[in-house]
Amino acid sequence: MSVFVSIQLDKSKDEPLYIQLYLQLRQMIEQGRLKPDEKLPPIRKLSEQLKINSVTVVNAYKLLEQHGYVYSRVGSGTYISDNLHNQLHQLEPPETEPFREEEFRLMDQGQIHIRSNTINFASATPTPELFPVEDFKNVLNEVLDRDGGFAFGYQESQGFFPLRESITAYLRYYGIEKTPECIQIISGAQQGIDVLAKALLNFGDCLVVESPTYTGAIAAFRSRGAKIIEVPIEKDGINLEVLEKKLKKFHPKFIYVMPNFQNPTGYCYSLKKRKALLQLAKQYDTLIIEDDYLSELNFSRKKLAPLKAIDHYNKVVYIKSFSKIFMPGLRLAFLVLPEQIYNDVLAAKHTSDISTSGLTQRAFDLYLRKGIWQKHIQYMQKIYKERYKVMSEALENFMPKEIDYHLPEGGLTFWLALPEGCSSNKLYLECREKDVVFVPGSVFYSTQKDSRYFRLSFAAVYPEEIKKGIRILGNTINHLLKNNTKNKKGTNYYTPLL
Ligand SMILES: Cc1ncc(COP(=O)(O)O)c(C=O)c1O
Repeated sequence: MSVFVSIQLDKSKDEPLYIQLYLQLRQMIEQGRLKPDEKLPPIRKLSEQLKINSVTVVNAYKLLEQHGYVYSRVGSGTYISDNLHNQLHQLEPPETEPFREEEFRLMDQGQIHIRSNTINFASATPTPELFPVEDFKNVLNEVLDRDGGFAFGYQESQGFFPLRESITAYLRYYGIEKTPECIQIISGAQQGIDVLAKALLNFGDCLVVESPTYTGAIAAFRSRGAKIIEVPIEKDGINLEVLEKKLKKFHPKFIYVMPNFQNPTGYCYSLKKRKALLQLAKQYDTLIIEDDYLSELNFSRKKLAPLKAIDHYNKVVYIKSFSKIFMPGLRLAFLVLPEQIYNDVLAAKHTSDISTSGLTQRAFDLYLRKGIWQKHIQYMQKIYKERYKVMSEALENFMPKEIDYHLPEGGLTFWLALPEGCSSNKLYLECREKDVVFVPGSVFYSTQKDSRYFRLSFAAVYPEEIKKGIRILGNTINHLLKNNTKNKKGTNYYTPLL
């Protein structure tokens, strides 16, 4: 406990005690006063020593874990992370602003604070008037008339059989030939990721993710005590050389990827990389989890078949969500599974929520069978293509030339880069004051390191607001870049944008 006697908490400060404790522990780790794999004091002991509530210590430890500084072992305690050194020295830490850290932490948990007039480039969820409410009301009524009370009983854990059948027909349309036996209905893709993490990962197992990647996946994998290995994503897919090195060294349980319109970058895998990825999975005997959350929103002429459609070695676990192009509140998605993991996944799903709502499954089954689905997708494509066009033009017109970005071929987001050495966390805080929000890149890395990248989504913004918001964003960036140049003192490491 010797180093911990130096901790000083001040109850008269506005800063919450758990933030004060977090910052002081973080500093000890960064300064090397706490060594990799060293155990932090038990919660009760530290709370007694510091004369604070044990919840304060729990919250500080949680925050350290979320930022990758520590890891916990169930029943044993909390330990300093062993791969921190490299991560910490990639960038100088951003200047410490505890309340703002709290804000980024919330964002990491998928929440963002907005006011009624905020232009929200952060959310990638469709606006409610786009939901096919009338059509869904009709199928719901039909199910209620047809099935009565059966629609409200427990559904089988694997999912309503007729829905699994109609999903096989839907999959055929995307080049995937499967039977209802391999389909597992889930309550949203997030549950799918969580259920797969439960079924496939034990404490200390390794897995590979693209870097950057979807925050919700990082959180689910981390909750299993797994070691997350990041491999950079490039414009045509994951970096295969780095991937192969990691496969050799870590023997991961699986590789989690989004081959179409990757979240957050919007990048799509080339056919060559898709095939190479499948080959590597076979060679190193690992699974691929393909998260297909958006491939219907393709604005190009290129056909973007899912990886699962060319999965000749049966290595791909396919997750299909309907949230972004249908209605996220339905909490409905499905998995296509290789046979060897059917039982483990079914058991994990059962312990999660027994089954996905039977009423929703039955209504969605009718919705698919009646072909209303196709009509709705065409409608969403039309709306979003328009917003995409407005956003592309606004970026062209209002973004300073120093900003680098990629024009995606579909999806709902753009991935932009500030010049080297700038912080998108800083930019976020400046824009938020002007009622424009987006997601800073730090949220999409397992280490939450500050980053010059940021994601803009046009899912929840109307065309006229897109132009206004991008103009504000462009002006703010211009202003910040000017200040940044003024304040530069010839250093060549990370500097704050302001
Ligand atoms: C890549 C990705 N996967 C999964 C999800 C979760 O989707 P669902 O609403 O189906 O749980 C999201 C949500 O944003 C996502 O972006």
